Amino acid sequence: SAPLRAHAEARGKFVGAALATSPLANETAYRSIAASEFNQVTAENAMKWDATEPSRNQFNFTGADQIMAFAEQNDQQVHGHTLVWHSQTPSWVQNLGATEMREAMQNHISRVAGRYAGNPVLTSWDVVNEVFDDNGNLRTSFWYQKLGESYIADAFRYARAADPDATLCINDYNVEGVNAKSTAMYNLVKSLRAQNVPVDCVGLQSHLAIQYGFPNIRENMQRFADLGVEVRVTEIDVRMQTPRDAAKDATQATYYSDVVKACVAVSRCSGVTVWGFTDKYSWVPDTFPGQGAALIYDENYGKKPAYTAVHDALAGD
Ligand code: G3I
Repeated sequence: SAPLRAHAEARGKFVGAALATSPLANETAYRSIAASEFNQVTAENAMKWDATEPSRNQFNFTGADQIMAFAEQNDQQVHGHTLVWHSQTPSWVQNLGATEMREAMQNHISRVAGRYAGNPVLTSWDVVNEVFDDNGNLRTSFWYQKLGESYIADAFRYARAADPDATLCINDYNVEGVNAKSTAMYNLVKSLRAQNVPVDCVGLQSHLAIQYGFPNIRENMQRFADLGVEVRVTEIDVRMQTPRDAAKDATQATYYSDVVKACVAVSRCSGVTVWGFTDKYSWVPDTFPGQGAALIYDENYGKKPAYTAVHDALAGD
């Protein structure tokens, strides 16, 4: 049957995967599925600050360009991830004083987003990532502590200046359903747009777990859509206690299906990106010991029930 991307394209949506540079360079099966099934890709790590500017004003685009070249070869769009985050940011940035930190942020955005400006493959950026804590307060990261809340608006303005055509996103986790954190995100996006800060898009990471229940994602997507912003599912995976079994796989498949169906139902939802695609490579077991099997292919590149669920939700079967 037709690959995921054919069904997504028929709906004017994307279906994407986060890609890691090492298997992309070294494994035929990885490369072949990444090319044939997805029409959008995100660099899992290669476009982050520690990869692109490890030392001050010393840029390295090796991994980022590898992802871009793959996408160009395979007629895929690239979502840039991520310009400003508290994690995977070198200590030289964290140790700067306020004035120099703001300048470093502007320079970083201008060089990284600027590199791909005008390239039709790079269509969007996560400008800021995970600015909230789990209670819906602004996270007291080094960005916030040194620069105050204004670092967020500044980051969006710098990104618009660097790449006027890119869709600019704010991205976070645990904001899939209507809850305190997603309401804080909603209020921030509304307030930024009222001040003409160029926020175009809200990314719902969607790192879900079958043991925690399914969020009311469609209702939440719709309220953001009603603000006039694009929404997208940027990093879905659905973890479980390992080992897998048929019952857990079936539950996981309903989570994937319901997320994709929500995006299909909300016209301002542009698409869904899976955070990886094979259980062979996933951040989950490293971060949550005893959990995993979160993706739509198993570790031998076999399709799981979750794959069929995504396929059928996109196909409308
Ligand atoms: O590249 C080094 C390698 O040289 C070293 O030997 C090895 C030893 O630990 O580490 C390697 O770096 C790892 C890197 O992934 C590349 O594999 C880091 O330790 C590891 O921490 C890093 O994890 C990434 C994580 O972000 C970091 O916060 C995951 O791959 C990546 O999937 C994850 O992605 C995040 C999104 O960016 C934002 N949303 C949440 C999501 C999941 O945490």
